[in-house]
Amino acid sequence: MSEHVILTEIVDRVGVIRLNRPEALNALNLAILNTVVEAAEAFQSDPNIMALVITGNDKAFAAGADIKEMADKSYIEMHQSDWFSQWTRFTDIRLPIVAAVNGFALGGGCELAMMADLIIAGPNTKFGQPEINLGVIPGMGGSQRLTRAVGKSKAMDMVLTGRMMDGEEAERAGLVARLVEDDKVFDTAMEVAQTIASKSRPVVMAAKEAVDTAFETSLTQGLLFERRAFHALFALEDQKEGMDAFSNKRRAQFQDR
Ligand code: CAA
Repeated sequence: MSEHVILTEIVDRVGVIRLNRPEALNALNLAILNTVVEAAEAFQSDPNIMALVITGNDKAFAAGADIKEMADKSYIEMHQSDWFSQWTRFTDIRLPIVAAVNGFALGGGCELAMMADLIIAGPNTKFGQPEINLGVIPGMGGSQRLTRAVGKSKAMDMVLTGRMMDGEEAERAGLVARLVEDDKVFDTAMEVAQTIASKSRPVVMAAKEAVDTAFETSLTQGLLFERRAFHALFALEDQKEGMDAFSNKRRAQFQDR
């Protein structure tokens, strides 16, 4: 059994979380849940960290929630513990999160990837919501986030049949932001995260919040939210710096934390 269920490191200004239960294809048990959210929150509280990357290994990003941990639970245990609700601590992270996804991303693995802000994957990545084969339905957001990502027809196909979708199909469907060779997935995710890390931290947070608002509200309310957030950014030194750098044909040095 892996001693550490996740591995973390900081590369420049990017916090990396690597799921590390290879013997169980990174099945998401409570230990992984707790350590992932604690690591993400710790990275966020460090003002020098600008973005996160979450990844697994070549064979599996994560093959789902840990079936063996759940199998014998009763309805009342699941309900009273509000099983899976702790993952909202991960989706509450305000820094951008890039998912670098190889191998199986099934059930909770697909759902965890979709909790990230964008997904980088390879042609051999296998996304799926196979819970139907276990006599349950997705419980970490699959029915909602997959439907928003790929539309009703394909989400129904995935959730009702449990079939897997490879990286190319996932990219065509809009689930994957960038499809790259399998062995370039992690490096590409790091490049994306490093690019984000070169921007202004509060502006990046505002941008994430604005895009996320599109999923939560009407167009009129969303446009108002965006415009007000845009106005508020004029309180930042980074806005002055960014616009001055453009006018003076130099590279902006963002400082606000
Ligand atoms: N939970 C617990 N253990 C898991 C697991 C999971 N989700 N997925 C894989 N494992 C374990 C296997 O039991 C096996 O352990 P042992 O060696 O102790 O037997 C080990 O990981 C390797 O797995 P396989 O031998 O099955 O590997 P494979 O290459 O033959 O098959 C696979 C790979 C097709 C992904 C297969 O492991 C599989 O179907 N896994 C389950 C996928 C699944 O149903 N996911 C949904 C889980 S429920 C969920 O996620 C609910 C939710 O909405 C959050």
